[in-house]
Order: sequence, then C-alpha cells, then structure tokens
Amino acid sequence: MSINFSEDDKNQDITTTASIPEDAAEGSLRPKTIAEYIGQEKAKGNLEVFIRAAKMRKEPLDHVLLHGPPGLGKTTLAAVIANEMGVNMRITSGPAIEKPGDLVAMLTNLNEGDILFVDEIHRLNRAYEEILYPAMEDFAIDIILGKGPSANSLHLELPHFTLIGATTRSGQLTAPLRDRFGVSLRLELYTPEELTRIVKRSAGILGVEIEPDGAYEIASRSRGTPRIANRMLRRVRDFAQVQARGVITRQVADQALSRLEVDHLGLDSLDRRMLRCIIEFYGGGPVGLETLAATINEEAVTLEDMYEPYLLQMGFLTRTPRGRCVTRKAYEHLGIAYMGQQALELDS
Ligand code: ADE
Repeated sequence: MSINFSEDDKNQDITTTASIPEDAAEGSLRPKTIAEYIGQEKAKGNLEVFIRAAKMRKEPLDHVLLHGPPGLGKTTLAAVIANEMGVNMRITSGPAIEKPGDLVAMLTNLNEGDILFVDEIHRLNRAYEEILYPAMEDFAIDIILGKGPSANSLHLELPHFTLIGATTRSGQLTAPLRDRFGVSLRLELYTPEELTRIVKRSAGILGVEIEPDGAYEIASRSRGTPRIANRMLRRVRDFAQVQARGVITRQVADQALSRLEVDHLGLDSLDRRMLRCIIEFYGGGPVGLETLAATINEEAVTLEDMYEPYLLQMGFLTRTPRGRCVTRKAYEHLGIAYMGQQALELDS
C-alpha cells in the first residue's frame, strides 16, 4: 500500500538535513576555532583537553569518531580540530572509496600529523576496512602484489596521522573498526538558544540585519540543526529584502517560514505526513519502520536518519520494540482527537 497525501512536498528541501548544492555557501559561515564553535559543549570540552594534551606531547591526536544525526557540524568540527592542531586535513567519504587503491593512495599521500577525514565511514566497504586496522594501529600497511603462490607483500610505513571518522549510524560500524577510535564523540541536536546564537553569528557574517526575535523564530523552527538554520536564514533574508527593507523581524521570519510550509515547531510536510499516516492507518502505532516507509513512499533510512531524531526529541514519536508510536502531543499538534492509544491500552 502506498498513499499519496494531498499536501505536496515541494518545499521539503528547506528542512532536509542532507547537504544540498546551495549549502556550498555554508563554508563562509563555518567556525574555524573551538572558541567560535557554538554548542556541543560536552564534545568541545573533551576535545579541548585531548588537543592540548596531544600538543603538549607533540603527538598527533588519537583517532576520533564523530557520530550523530546529519547536519550537526561533524565536518565543521573536524576542520576545527585540524585548525586547532595546526595540521592539514584531507577529506574523503566511505562511498567515495571504490577500490582498495583509493584508500591506499589517500593514506600514502598524508604528511606527518595530517588528519584524514572519512565522512559516512559506515558506508566504507567492509573488505577495505582491514587496510585501516594496521594503518590506525601501527601506522603501516601491507600491500599484496600479484596473486597465488607468486604473490608478494610490500610493507609500507605511514606518517603518524589522525583518522576522523564521521557517521550518522555508529551502530553499523564493525566492532574492530569502532574499537580503534580512541575518542568517540556524540553530537546532539542543538537547543533553540544555541541555534539563535548561530543564526545571529551567520547573519553578522552575511551582513544581514536581524532582530533578536527574528533570530529566535528561525532557530526554533530549524529542528535542532545548524545546517537548516543557516539555510532558512538565507531564504528568510530574501523575503526581508523584498518585503521589509532587509531587516529580519520575527514577523518576516514567521511569514517566510510559513510560506515555506515549516510550522511553528519546525515540522515540514513530510513530518506531518509521517505522523498522520501512523494515526490514520495504524491507529497511532505501533508500526514497523519499513511498513511506514512503504506506506508513505519514502526510504526507511531517510525516515530514520533525517526525520525521526527531531520527532523523538520533540516528544511526537516514541520507539517501542513493536514499532513506532505517535504520542498524545502529536495528536494535539495536528489537531486530531486523541483516542487511538486508549484502545490499545485496553487491548493489552
Ligand atoms: N555554523 C554552523 N554550525 C555552527 C556552530 N556549531 N557554531 C557556529 N557557527 C556554526
């Protein structure tokens, strides 16, 4: 069963946590130092200690795994680490490494102390992971040349480097790979207050005039994600320019975001479709993720990685062993009378 809901998703790009081409402009908004980096206080606090200790010992930083939902600044934080350590960073990603030679070339081209950033490291081919084990542990790789009885192995020493892996799904990493990261940091969704500071900082860099209420309005509708907040800021700026002499007030932000179909709590049309589907077709849940995804014609990974974190954090959705359930709060937000769960409670 696959259902077409009447509400279309034409503006969904504004709330996607995935990186889209227009985010290329994000570069100039990215903080360069820990002091400039807003939020993630726990991760930052630990990192500051590790960076200082490594610098005192004149050693590269231990390998770092950054995990958490998309759009929270894993690449940005890796670049901040490289900057604070005073080293270069090479960037690649799990799916970009198509053959073992790609990984070997990346590793052998590093200089002493460099950082190798591997985005979406959970998507690295399992067979190539084994190249990383001795590289991470002993800073060396063994390359097999040729095949069969005449095969030879070549031992290559590597410079001391730091691998920074980023993943939205740390559970999908194999245990041997996960265990080789000395530092593992989880990035959390940002609070509206932290996002307000990010929006104000970005507006300053872009040279846009913004009132505090305007910044808060954008922040509280950007689902805990700086990438979305910065994207919204750019779109709201357009409305402000045309309709309000360039100043972003709360009213301008509200009007612009409402026109982009982002509601007061940051939910977009797909969030609402997902919640309504669980209510209307599955009595409020529980419903398995795959079933739900098929019903609304979306990929299960998209729902799980990009939509669920915010709905869970907002208390609209719960995960149970039997599947996803919507909460009373979701019914109230959507203006639907709450009855479903009561029937379930009587059942069990
Ligand atoms: N821009 C994007 N993410 C940011 C952050 N965490 N701090 C400051 N500016 C940002």
